[in-house]
Amino acid sequence: MNTAHELDAWERAYRDFETPAGEMRKFGRRLHALGADRLDLSSRILEICCGRGNALIAWQRLGFRRAVGLDLSYALLRLSNAGAPRIVGDVRAMPVADASQDIVAVHGGLHHLRSLEDLEATLGEMRRVIRPGGHIVIVEPWSTPFLTAVHALSRQPLIRRLWQKMDAFERMYEHEQKTYDAWLGQPDAILALVHRYLTPLVLHRRWGKLMVLARRAPERTGARRVR
Ligand SMILES: C[S@@+](CC[C@H](N)C(=O)[O-])C[C@H]1O[C@@H](n2cnc3c(N)ncnc32)[C@H](O)[C@@H]1O
Repeated sequence: MNTAHELDAWERAYRDFETPAGEMRKFGRRLHALGADRLDLSSRILEICCGRGNALIAWQRLGFRRAVGLDLSYALLRLSNAGAPRIVGDVRAMPVADASQDIVAVHGGLHHLRSLEDLEATLGEMRRVIRPGGHIVIVEPWSTPFLTAVHALSRQPLIRRLWQKMDAFERMYEHEQKTYDAWLGQPDAILALVHRYLTPLVLHRRWGKLMVLARRAPERTGARRVR
């Protein structure tokens, strides 16, 4: 990922894929679908993998006043118009105090991680920084018939020429293919880890998305790592 000032090729495709306004509306709809918009508005929210910060703005528009973003990419953090504080950091070892957050959320960041070990480290960090009774929100791509159809469409050269959004979608895919395909290809292992670290209150897999609202699971001593 990019710690420089300039956007890299994936970041440019991501910028071209969706307008900030469209993305904020989409994030807002998803938070509503999970019931996260009914949580306490004074919650301390940590939005991890916040990128250019559109999910931070979606939280703010729902009335949440205490959202903070964290991302590895300084270049993307600089693009953000969210007035919220933002931290440069790695989700696998967050510079955030234990039990200091009421809500930890991620919109489309976990599938960028390189391995199940990285996912496990990140879920462990999410559990560490959330206070007992706090909530965790996860929205990530998921292999469903809808997503398969979208990918089939976005691979057609004519569609890419005529439909800029589809071209940007395919460019994003080309640059993140390794982690994205690995993520979509191991749903059972991912769900096993989610259930190890979190206790889902809501869990949907539809329209190409995994959407979870959870509490942190109790710590287990001697838990084995998933390979
Ligand atoms: C698709 S973007 C997420 C969009 C974002 N949630 C938003 O609100 O606009 C994925 C983000 O994950 C970040 N990322 C990937 N690996 C990371 C890591 N190990 N630690 C922190 N951020 C990471 C990338 O820099 C990128 O901004």
